[in-house]
Amino acid sequence: MILVSEKVYKLLESRIDGLKKEERVERDADQRKTYDEVFDQATLMNIYKLIIDKHLDTLDFPISTGKEANVFKGTTPEGESVAVKIYRIATATYKHFKKYIEGDPRFRNVKGDHRSQVYTWAQKEFKNLKRMCAAEVRVPEPVTYIKNILVMEYIGTEEGAAPMLKDIELENPQECFDILVNAIEILYNKGRLVHGDFSEYNILVPDDDIVLIDVGQSVLLEHPMAQEMIERDIKNLVRYFEKYKLKTDIAEIRAKILKDDLQELDNDEQPSEEAADDINGAQGS
Ligand SMILES: Nc1ncnc2c1ncn2[C@@H]1O[C@H](COP(=O)(O)OP(=O)(O)OP(=O)(O)O)[C@@H](O)[C@H]1O
Ligand SMILES: [Mg+2]
Repeated sequence: MILVSEKVYKLLESRIDGLKKEERVERDADQRKTYDEVFDQATLMNIYKLIIDKHLDTLDFPISTGKEANVFKGTTPEGESVAVKIYRIATATYKHFKKYIEGDPRFRNVKGDHRSQVYTWAQKEFKNLKRMCAAEVRVPEPVTYIKNILVMEYIGTEEGAAPMLKDIELENPQECFDILVNAIEILYNKGRLVHGDFSEYNILVPDDDIVLIDVGQSVLLEHPMAQEMIERDIKNLVRYFEKYKLKTDIAEIRAKILKDDLQELDNDEQPSEEAADDINGAQGS
């Protein structure tokens, strides 16, 4: 078991908001529990490594505590904001991880123990973000990952993260809807990926932008659940926009998104160079 030294802990105390022992005493029991669960010894060492490697200078404030991960706003030594998503090792409900990891050709040789699965999940989210960026779908640009920690572009301002789609009233819902249909279509046909948890919770809407997040579960089209997942994503999108009373035709949207796939399946295509890279990368680490 890893134990961080006093020296490392002292440095981390000065870099992580709320980690100081006195500050922790002041927090309520729930907050202290969250901090203990997310900042276990191995995670502290990984944050230390990110600091030493100059990917990170400080963790400034928590943005969110989810079922599996905590997200923080951080700052790099250059003064840039980043989002730091830390998958908790201890308290995660990871039953569904297996089914999204197995069946993805990029992750064939992954060990079955709990910790390895969490690490693979963070790596998978990083790779998915990379692939989505390459396909020019608007997602946070990934910076790096180490074990259970993913560092990516921060979507928000100094005051806080950008709002989720569910929390705002759209001025032009039709435009937003069209952009999202287009994003799913590009993701599918160019990125050859399905988001898999498309919802108003996983779309951030900063001023003048629409950004998809939370892509750990996203899978390549080769995955046995990909078709089921794309159908669910499309339904979720249409369901959410019902409140704006747009004229949406689900059959038309399906046809627009799935069209190219029929041709490509006939082509008996070789995997792209990038996909081959992904496969090798996953096996090597
Ligand atoms: N790159 C980012 N920039 C700014 N805020 C972010 C970013 N990524 C995530 N967030 C914030 O953190 C919240 C949770 O992130 P995300 O949806 O990725 O994880 P999650 O839903 O908590 O995961 P889970 O519930 O599966 O543990 C988001 O709703 C958003 O407010
Ligand atoms: Mg989410």
